Amino acid sequence: MSQLQPDENTGKIPRHIAIIMDGNGRWAYRQHLPRVAGHRRGAEVVREMVQRCVELDIPHLTLFAFSTENWRRPALEVRLLMNLFRLMLRREAKKLHSNGVRLRIIGDRAALAPDLQKLIGDAETLTAENHRLTLSLAVNYGGKWDITQAARKAVQLCQEQGKDPAMLNEEDIARHLALADIPEPDLLIRTGGEERISNFLIWQLAYTEFYFTDTLWPDFDGVELGRAIHSFAQRQRRFGRTGDQVQDPACDVG
Ligand code: FPP
Repeated sequence: MSQLQPDENTGKIPRHIAIIMDGNGRWAYRQHLPRVAGHRRGAEVVREMVQRCVELDIPHLTLFAFSTENWRRPALEVRLLMNLFRLMLRREAKKLHSNGVRLRIIGDRAALAPDLQKLIGDAETLTAENHRLTLSLAVNYGGKWDITQAARKAVQLCQEQGKDPAMLNEEDIARHLALADIPEPDLLIRTGGEERISNFLIWQLAYTEFYFTDTLWPDFDGVELGRAIHSFAQRQRRFGRTGDQVQDPACDVG
């Protein structure tokens, strides 16, 4: 088979960028401000990145806003972060809508406060038909949670259809994952100097290009985004093939 699979992007522009927005706390500490000031500044950078992606015609942006592990933070910080999500949903949903952005939240929302769940539902409904940019915000999200919930749904469907769960394949699981309806991320950016995935989209990142920067999230800007995209454009994505095959698919003989 010499044809690329449809969702293998070997182009120079990522169609889907995922970001681990790290460094808000350290940014605030360096400015002698409370941690929440870093998160507030981080939320402004979120707004700027959404705008940039719209300008650059990048159709999918996924941001890690709150992990399943972030509940371990001090209760006050968790509360302030949840309030920031509320504020963002209240203030930004209409603006996102008028800019053609579809907003959706991925993660286990059952653990979120009922009023927050309602705000999420309303914003998702309002923006559901927009196609310029899909902004997926991961809130109470964990990659292990995602795979577990997808596997559970796949098994349940099998049982309902009277099929043997031993026959399940990758595709049967993948179709129930968060983000199953959009291409997998081409580029993962992590700010803040750490080089790990931290239980983000662990299934969906299988062939993603990684870009790590020491820049703290509140200092991340359009220039930095440009650097990450430039780095992505230099890379040869092989998806298991040899470099020769990628350069010349016709050499796939013998
Ligand atoms: C990591 O920095 C950041 C978070 C856990 C929260 C991310 C939230 C935002 C960017 C702001 C809100 C976003 C929206 C969409 C409203 P950290 O606190 O771990 O920083 P540190 O490693 O320097 O302590």
